[in-house]
Amino acid sequence: MAERGGLAARGDLAASRGQLGADAPVTTSADLPAQSEMDGTFKVIEDHCDRIYTWDYERSRPQLVTLYNKAAQSQWASVTDLDWSTDVDPESLVDKDAPNLQLMREVTQMPGSPIASWGERELTKLGLEMFTAMLSQFMHGEQGAMMTAAKIVETVPWIDAKYYAATQTMDEARHTEVFARYIDEKVGTAYPMNPNLEAQITGLLEDSRWDIAYLGMQIVIESLALAAFGDMLRRTTEPLLKKLLRYIMADEARHVAFGILSLGEYYQHLSAADLKERQDFLLEHTINARARSTTPEVWQRMGVRAADVVPFIMEAAGKMKKTPFMQFQNGFFAKLVPNVRKLGLLDANNGYLRERWGEAGLLEFEFADADTSEDYARYDAVAADRAAAATTG
Ligand SMILES: [Fe+2]
Ligand SMILES: [Fe+2]
Repeated sequence: MAERGGLAARGDLAASRGQLGADAPVTTSADLPAQSEMDGTFKVIEDHCDRIYTWDYERSRPQLVTLYNKAAQSQWASVTDLDWSTDVDPESLVDKDAPNLQLMREVTQMPGSPIASWGERELTKLGLEMFTAMLSQFMHGEQGAMMTAAKIVETVPWIDAKYYAATQTMDEARHTEVFARYIDEKVGTAYPMNPNLEAQITGLLEDSRWDIAYLGMQIVIESLALAAFGDMLRRTTEPLLKKLLRYIMADEARHVAFGILSLGEYYQHLSAADLKERQDFLLEHTINARARSTTPEVWQRMGVRAADVVPFIMEAAGKMKKTPFMQFQNGFFAKLVPNVRKLGLLDANNGYLRERWGEAGLLEFEFADADTSEDYARYDAVAADRAAAATTG
């Protein structure tokens, strides 16, 4: 493969624009933002994966053809399918009975707690900040998903998978756009990207193995997203948020199916050593996902030092005998573990991953969920709404 002509380093931004070819518009450094501005606004990622052009246009993967046709028919548009005139009272977005707020209520009761003076008003404000922080991670994660899907278009060798990933790129653009607009118009000021999530997605975009973008995004992060969106959907009563989450989940269920259908085929032909690498990747990423916890910036906005309050949160969580993220984590593993089993990664190398996940208590989820490679139709809220409209209209 030819050397990449992309953005090799921050300082090369202007120079690399000039390498795009004779047809590229002439751009001078005067057209670009100042370096200091770019440092805060952009993150440059170097991809080490080869791009693949294929001359084989044969539609040889019927399940991916079906999934692609479904994706093409289920496209929706944020401006026509969502009612942005919906009036949203931000405080009504806070579920006061959510486990994380119950936990914080417990913290206000503890002797010496830095939030001992707090009442329900402060707790609601905290709830709104935590909600905004979560929506912000959804937005940043969706942008990462858009770039990962675009990478898959370029790096996967099969034409059916390139076609499908192109529809996913569009889906993820819509998700990013919708979350950004919802935060901006209805909620408040977005939070920066969580460093764990940022490191996780950057790793996928840099990796030289094309299937790692798939494994990390379609199998791990998409399962996480389905669980997180499902959790928020169950808790919220706000109609605009409810509808956008239902529509986004309809798309995400297809994305997980895409990963299972593609990787299931590829992993049948990998060596034991290569499969072990993928198993280690999953171990590392499930441990990371478990470690994710409160965003320190939330406490900053509440005028409390995270370092002061976290020990109390840990103690309260210990007393409650559950983490505030338990339900969401269970939802994640209920999607992830069955999917990983279907890819053959649980049992490869004499059950290497099965043993380790077993020690971590994750095998109880092995048969937890319906078959995500086929049940995306069950999530298709877009088709369901259109069918209902056709009957009533
Ligand atoms: Fe998405
Ligand atoms: Fe997705």
